[in-house]
Amino acid sequence: MSGAKIRRLAEQSGEIEHEANRYERTYESMRPWLPAKCNDFLDIGCGRGGIAIHVARHYCTATAHLIDGSDEQPPVSWCTDGTPWRDVGTAMAAFARHAPEIAVKTWPPDPLLAIPCELIYSNCSWGHHYPISTYLGLACRSLRPGGTLIVDLRIGPLGEQGRAALARHFDPVATIETPGKKYTRTVWRAFP
Ligand SMILES: C[S@@+](CC[C@H](N)C(=O)[O-])C[C@H]1O[C@@H](n2cnc3c(N)ncnc32)[C@H](O)[C@@H]1O
Repeated sequence: MSGAKIRRLAEQSGEIEHEANRYERTYESMRPWLPAKCNDFLDIGCGRGGIAIHVARHYCTATAHLIDGSDEQPPVSWCTDGTPWRDVGTAMAAFARHAPEIAVKTWPPDPLLAIPCELIYSNCSWGHHYPISTYLGLACRSLRPGGTLIVDLRIGPLGEQGRAALARHFDPVATIETPGKKYTRTVWRAFP
């Protein structure tokens, strides 16, 4: 689906809320690096699911796999009414309302999972709010050979540790410009 059509759908369905531009901008920044073919993708720390909806529309027929939430640390995101969220319920509701045609599967935040897919990404979550070690095993088990990984690494020691850990398991491909942000958006590829 074209970028213009994805935007039109988002506008028509009324999902343009205060964060909608950020969802679209994030998707647009990742778009050049998205694999051409994708049957399954995984969003780690999907939040409200706005970015995942854009990525799902990009592929039309891919299954969206969503992980969010942790009982082990304080919440890092809040709804507009000030209540925190830490699970995939918010994203599921967004998919049901705005993109009911998309196949979507949710998972608990269990690092022992394996979710075979061609694309894993995490925006402002894994490698930013918690270390890469949290889901490194899951990513290694899940990403198919040649698959793409996009991770926002926090600028500073947490991100640098994450970069070193990722470099042991994936090929570095690119860094996407994120001027003024507290993170660097990095692109990696699973060994073929
Ligand atoms: C700043 S939000 C980003 C949400 C979304 N990726 C976006 O860019 O709109 C960080 C998200 O990471 C989630 N999160 C925090 N710790 C997590 C963990 N250990 N596993 C999975 N998700 C987690 C939070 O619940 C929150 O939804």
